[in-house]
Amino acid sequence: MLNDKRILLVIGGGIAAYKCMDLIRRLKERGAGVRVVMTEAAAQFVTPLLVGAISGERVFTDLFDLTAEHDIGHIRLSREADLIVVAPATADLLARMTQGHANDLATTCLLATDKPVLVAPAMNPRMWSHPATRRNVAQLRADGIAVVGPNAGAMAERDEFGEGRMAEPLEILAAIEAHFATGEAGLLKGRRILVTSGPTHEPIDPVRYIANRSSGKQGHAIAAAARAAGAEVVLVSGPAEAADPRGVRVIHVESAREMMAAVEENLPVDAAVFAAAVADWRVAGAAEQKIKKGEGGTPTLTLVENPDILAAVARHHTLRPRLVVGFAAETEQVVAHAREKRVRKGCDWIVANDVSPATGIMGGDANTVHLVTAEAVEDWPSASKAEVARHLVARIAAELSGSKP
Ligand code: CTP
Repeated sequence: MLNDKRILLVIGGGIAAYKCMDLIRRLKERGAGVRVVMTEAAAQFVTPLLVGAISGERVFTDLFDLTAEHDIGHIRLSREADLIVVAPATADLLARMTQGHANDLATTCLLATDKPVLVAPAMNPRMWSHPATRRNVAQLRADGIAVVGPNAGAMAERDEFGEGRMAEPLEILAAIEAHFATGEAGLLKGRRILVTSGPTHEPIDPVRYIANRSSGKQGHAIAAAARAAGAEVVLVSGPAEAADPRGVRVIHVESAREMMAAVEENLPVDAAVFAAAVADWRVAGAAEQKIKKGEGGTPTLTLVENPDILAAVARHHTLRPRLVVGFAAETEQVVAHAREKRVRKGCDWIVANDVSPATGIMGGDANTVHLVTAEAVEDWPSASKAEVARHLVARIAAELSGSKP
């Protein structure tokens, strides 16, 4: 049952839009409230009048509808839902979502929301298999967006077969029910989670720095997944490539020492995940002015060790979180090094991954990790960074509530 769940259904402009009538009816039968936003193209396939009659609510189509802005507005529209479902998610709509466009009401709601999003793609098989669409879908998955379908079969166009048919209403319904059933939406309700992510930059002078390679994708995905699971999340991020996740308080820092200070300021938390690639050393006495070539020959940099943020929090006398999770990026003997690191740093778990260049994990969207706990080493299957994040969040939730999976 979906009692009291509020679904914002975004209908895109595809032939499969007609199937949304059945989806709306079934959602309502299960007790969900369904509010609908339609794109302009969608209104070419089904009329707002029909959709409104079936949903029993006013249908929203126009970003510049002043009366709507008055009484509801796109921000409220996108946030007063428990889940946003995009069906049919056309190639164009997926592309606009990937790019973060906000040129109509549908995309504005999708950009403004802090709620989980499920998309049901539907398009011609060639459009679905086009590298541009593949890229867009991979990016959306990495951003934490769930995807249901498409299925293979006959297309509306004559003599066209292949993958691209929108998932059937019952399949979309099952994906929606699974979303709420796993309890992901509320797994970490009432918990405070801190995550570090990205690299740190250690200044040499005002224009140069030392850094580690890190996109911040995995750490940011964990923050987003913890938020989606209902936690209050603080993300302390170095200068990362990944965008700030929605609904998360992000504290931007540059150096390891700034990261340390921001982390300490935000304790206590229930669990802390240290995914940042902190530079182990900083330059002693960084120059206040740009170091010029030719003045005194090639400069020599003296390095001093940075504070170990993970170890400091794991050994904190009064404010140690109940669960402290570290990361180990290794290029050889991954598990052996991770085991040793778990003990040396005093944390509860280590998420270990092989970042040797051949794996493509550095900066990529996929990850293969091992979870090293005091009791065991679990080898997780290769998955997107968003999936690894969801899995880790589910484990954290189980640990905090005392139920081991
Ligand atoms: N870490 C940290 N502060 C540091 C260095 C590392 O919080 N100054 C955290 C990272 O966020 C990660 C874990 O410690 O969770 C592992 O970091 P890593 O740099 O791989 O470990 P090291 O202590 O540098 O060990 P080694 O030199 O053997 O790689």
